Amino acid sequence: MSGEAGRLARSYFKNLELFEDSLVLPPAAPAAETELPVLPGALKSLPASLDEFERQISDCTRCPLGPTRTKFVFGVGNPAARIVFIGEAPGHDEDIKGIPFVGRAGQLLDQMLAAVGLDRRVVYICNVLKCRPPANRDPEPVEVATCKPYLLTQLSIIRPPIIVCLGRHAASVLLGTDAPMKELRGRVLPWHDTQVLVTYHPAYFLRNASHQYLGDQDFRLLRKLYDEITGGAAPY
Ligand code: URA
Repeated sequence: MSGEAGRLARSYFKNLELFEDSLVLPPAAPAAETELPVLPGALKSLPASLDEFERQISDCTRCPLGPTRTKFVFGVGNPAARIVFIGEAPGHDEDIKGIPFVGRAGQLLDQMLAAVGLDRRVVYICNVLKCRPPANRDPEPVEVATCKPYLLTQLSIIRPPIIVCLGRHAASVLLGTDAPMKELRGRVLPWHDTQVLVTYHPAYFLRNASHQYLGDQDFRLLRKLYDEITGGAAPY
């Protein structure tokens, strides 16, 4: 097999082997033997770092979105972040740049972070899906099922004390709940030794500017949790 078909087949089997009990990862740095608890559903043998994990999966074609994407959008930010934000899926701008939340919703996210004295240098930002669904349609169950282990592996490497789900979709994938946003937001939800906050997706506030105050409340709660964890030390 040669050319594009060969490349896709090699990529498929390379990514498949990451999830097979009977197969092992290519030789990894010793740190892969970490004692850190690995979240159920993550890769069994944890990559030594986010960079290593990105190298392993960035040519993924395990679901139908692989061949349609421009760039794989792995995640961005501080690998030792105490806060991880999870969005739904890359949009047009993210697909072009390969970086999450760089379009209008991302600019609003940056403003909301700045309003509580945080920014992208401090946190880590990623999505449930690493590839853009065509025309920004909702993720299909097979796409979520394929990509969720990648998210859980990222979280297992970072082990953040605080996770923020941006929107109901991220919350439902992570927490397995279909509860409405008004029941989820404004509370700290315990999940695997981590505190989870759920708030509206920034795109919601772009469409419903009069509800922005709810997001601002949620980000103030986020900053309070962050200060409790860090003892109020300046984030940078
Ligand atoms: N919306 C998301 O959920 N993620 C992005 O990266 C951009 C927009």
